[in-house]
Amino acid sequence: MPEAQGPLGKAEHVAIIMDGNGRWAKARAKPRLYGHQAGAKRVREIVEACPQLGVRYLTVFAFSTENWRRTQTEVAGLMKLFKKYILSEAKKLVEAGVCVRFIGDRLRLEPRLVQLMDELEEMTSENSLVNLTIAINYGGRDEVARASRRMAKDVARGTLNPDSVNEQTLARYLDTYVLPDPDLVIRTSGEARISNFLLWQSAYSEYEFVKTLWPDFTVTDFEEIIATFGARERRFGGLLAS
Ligand code: IPE
Ligand code: IPE
Ligand code: MG
Repeated sequence: MPEAQGPLGKAEHVAIIMDGNGRWAKARAKPRLYGHQAGAKRVREIVEACPQLGVRYLTVFAFSTENWRRTQTEVAGLMKLFKKYILSEAKKLVEAGVCVRFIGDRLRLEPRLVQLMDELEEMTSENSLVNLTIAINYGGRDEVARASRRMAKDVARGTLNPDSVNEQTLARYLDTYVLPDPDLVIRTSGEARISNFLLWQSAYSEYEFVKTLWPDFTVTDFEEIIATFGARERRFGGLLAS
């Protein structure tokens, strides 16, 4: 359980809901996919800014379990973009010391994409400067449901005692089992909701909702948010030492 902390707490884990690509494209009279391409380009510079800001974990929401409701053209375009992104960024991510992990349900993703995701995780597994987690076909409720299913199976096969199940047990079954909880969750594009992102993990996260559309989000915006975060008081239900 984290202790209450005063000002200048560190944002060790920052999670971002990268929203607003569609509106960014629309404002330029371009197809939505153009906005997604512009959005994908912003990720690396934000990742590269992390070490000097003390951010060791960066988690980004790329595709939700609800995003399948979009048109077939947009979904197919996004899946293609993810494959292209992995192929074009892999070397640079390795060189930048980034360890990449994916969270979300891979079963619904096409095998070629899953293969590229596995390869990128493998290629970057020795890195530790920044831990980048990309959420694809991720939903917080779906993650808890999948974790519960696996836990139930372990109980059925006798490897888990149901009376021992507590918060830590469930956390170990989540996709994020290797990650600390996010200290700060940023959402771009002006929407103030969490859209099924890291529901369990963000119980005590600070939230920052900014108006900027994701393709316009700069390292300077990121730095400013991190600086503001440092001045917040986090109490975790307790009291600050006076
Ligand atoms: C976020 O941008 C990216 C994904 C959800 C894949 P949107 O595509 O949601 O952009 P808006 O919200 O329509 O502007
Ligand atoms: C959340 O954005 C998902 C991602 C950024 C990948 P959405 O645009 O899908 O969320 P809603 O539909 O506005 O809640
Ligand atoms: Mg959106």
